[in-house]
This record gives sequence, C-alpha cells and structure tokens, in this order.
Amino acid sequence: METRAVYPGSFDPVTNGHIDLIQRSAKLFDKVIVAILKNMEKAPLFTVKERAEMLEEAVRGLDNVSVVAFSGLLVDFAGKIEASVIIRGIRAVSDYEYELQMALMNRRLSGQVETVFMIPAESYSFLSSRLVKEIAQHGGSVGEFVPEGVERRLGGKFGLRS
Ligand code: PNS
Repeated sequence: METRAVYPGSFDPVTNGHIDLIQRSAKLFDKVIVAILKNMEKAPLFTVKERAEMLEEAVRGLDNVSVVAFSGLLVDFAGKIEASVIIRGIRAVSDYEYELQMALMNRRLSGQVETVFMIPAESYSFLSSRLVKEIAQHGGSVGEFVPEGVERRLGGKFGLRS
C-alpha cells in the first residue's frame, strides 16, 4: 500500500531547512505533498502563488513530491488527499511544545492520520522563515539559508543589494 505524507506549513518563504526535510521525507514515503496554508492569520510576505512557485522550483527533481495549497483544517485536507501521515519538523526543544499540542489536537480531530516529527540537518537548527525575512529586510545576506530563487524574490520585496 502506498503511504502518502502531507508536509503542511506557511512556507513564507521556503528555506533550506524545509527543503532538507522534504528531501528526507521523499526517501521515507511513497508520496510527499507539500501543502501551503492559504488562510494565514498574519499577513504573509509572499502570496500563495509566489510561495508555491518557490517551492516548485525547490522540489524540482524530486519525482514523488508535489506542491499544493490548502485551506481549512489540515486533517480534513489530509483525508481528502488520502494522506495517512503529517510531517512536521522539530528544530529544537522550543518547537516541541507547540508541535505536541498540534499533533495531539490533530489526533483528537482525526484517527486517520499520524504525525511524524522529523529533525532537519543540525546546520539548519537555527533557521526559520521569520528570521530569513528579518535579515533580508535589513539588507543582510540570506544566500546560505534559502535557494537562489527565494533570495532573488526577497531582494525584489525589500530592494536588496545582491
Ligand atoms: O509553518 P507553520 O505556520 O508552523 O504551519 C502551521 C500549520 C499550517 C501546520 C497549521 O497552522 C495548520 O495545520 N493550519 C490549518 C488549520 C488547522 O488544521 N488547525 C488546527 C491545528 S491543530
């Protein structure tokens, strides 16, 4: 039986840490569906379309990975696409409490989907989309944290030097 995993998130924007997790997940599961949340509470920097384009570029070459956008409850979306696994990354202990709460709530909401926590490469343990945006906004270099296409688009948003 084919195991489908959904990797949900804001991806505003995708970082090398996300990509590391996607690559690891693609080896573990038959299909990985990267799912961008549409209705974020806080205003995102990038539109869903932009976030999807950056992700598409980043996963090019990974044949069993696809990128989609979703709204509503994650467990409902997982059911719709017949995913039995939710992938979430844990970088440090500080991520754990929020992730545990979400995983347990998702388990309460649906018995059909299991959360699997994955650990990115150590070198990405400090990396987050929020910090990348902050650095880029203040003119810092983010080239080692995100793919080239993302760096370029951040430059476009903030008028960065390259
Ligand atoms: O990258 P993020 O912002 O940490 O991802 C959070 C995400 C998208 C996984 C979470 O907000 C989510 O699943 N939202 C969909 C709505 C939902 O199902 N909420 C209940 C979660 S217990």
